[in-house]
Amino acid sequence: MDKIRIVGGRPLEGTVRVSGAKNASLPEMCAALLTEKPVVLRNLPEVRDIQTLGRLLEGFGAEVECRVGGIQEIRARDVTSVEAPYELVKTMRASVLVLGPLVARAGRARVSLPGGCAIGARPINLHLLALEKMGALISVEHGYVEASAERLRGAEIHFETVTVTGTENVLMAATLADGETVISNAACEPEIEDLALMLTAMGARIEGAGTSTLRIEGVGSLNGTDHAVIPDRIETGTFIAACAIAGGDIEILACNPAHLRAVLDKFRETGTRIEEGPSNLRVRAPRQIRASSITTLPHPGFPTDMQAQYTALMTQASGACTVTENIFENRFMHVAELQRMGANNRVDGRTALISGPAPLSGAQVMATDLRASASLVLAGLGASGETVIDRVYHLDRGYYRIDEKLRGLGADIERLI
Ligand code: EPZ
Repeated sequence: MDKIRIVGGRPLEGTVRVSGAKNASLPEMCAALLTEKPVVLRNLPEVRDIQTLGRLLEGFGAEVECRVGGIQEIRARDVTSVEAPYELVKTMRASVLVLGPLVARAGRARVSLPGGCAIGARPINLHLLALEKMGALISVEHGYVEASAERLRGAEIHFETVTVTGTENVLMAATLADGETVISNAACEPEIEDLALMLTAMGARIEGAGTSTLRIEGVGSLNGTDHAVIPDRIETGTFIAACAIAGGDIEILACNPAHLRAVLDKFRETGTRIEEGPSNLRVRAPRQIRASSITTLPHPGFPTDMQAQYTALMTQASGACTVTENIFENRFMHVAELQRMGANNRVDGRTALISGPAPLSGAQVMATDLRASASLVLAGLGASGETVIDRVYHLDRGYYRIDEKLRGLGADIERLI
């Protein structure tokens, strides 16, 4: 199993290019199931989750042609199977995003329940309730969701909790439904806006993308399209945190600062100096890191997917602060590992209490989930001596060659195979 070895204490210099957004790519690949026409997606990050989803789509009978440079042509001429097997779904929860498109296009779906994960129980009850409101017959047996509908019908859907993939599932399903669907308390993430842009190019009728109320007028069929995925705002944020904790002066290319408002504002509060261009950021490390508390919220609030990276930075800040995790009930697995490196932090319910600066020393640590592993990489960059991170397969699920990108910025980092 791969490990990553880092020797800390080197400031970062130079430029780094951000990849396409994993969390936009996944629903957009599933959207290709909505049409028999070819869909071309560009700027896809070549990370493990994208490969897993490609295999899942092939299982339904879609042709998935991968071309160099993060391009895929997906064509679901016919849907010959509607089963998403446990073997694939257990490795990637986002597989649930095939549910809406399959029921809308093929009238049926059999999708393994994703089960819990390291960061929380993560039920999909809201997805199922919404599809039921649209007329789907839903049953759960032997660990699988069975859903069927001759044709979904438009409905009023109110999400009691803001859910990103729930909004995406219903948005995709509603494009082929009979009549109008209105989703209220919808998620507003940039990834949802990008999905709506792609669907609109396929002929869907959508209003309100990026707001908490979405209106979708169903159509009889959709066309193909050629769509470039937006940059990954979480990868962008991770590099900002890397520069802030390691020191240095970097330029981040091919990103979209407008998608990161809350993150940029917060990092500026810590003393990180950030200059914005239309698709690039210049980041200079703080002279002294200032402590500043955060609370994670749905977009446009501070994203939970940046919480672990920010927590690592706060261990090096002067003063005390709190990090409150509002979205997932168990997203502080990195705190104990940071303690092993010398951090002065502890968890009390949904809040981590951090006081610093506590010098970090390199250690052997264990990654538990995607963003926790990123925070350990950052801690390793800021620590004295050698850090070895185990189970980095978590990292590879959502970051494209992050070790190589950091080495390109001068970090002493390597992969141990
Ligand atoms: C998406 O997960 C992202 N994944 C997550 O990114 C991200 O952390 C999360 O949104 C929040 O921003 C993808 O886009 C593939 P939710 P999702 O449904 O959609 C509860 C990463 O690191 N809930 O918005 O699964 C749920 O338990 C990953 O890239 C229900 O109770 O998250 C959570 O507490 C990790 N019932 C809250 O809502 C439901 O049916 C928000 O979850 C659905 C959700």
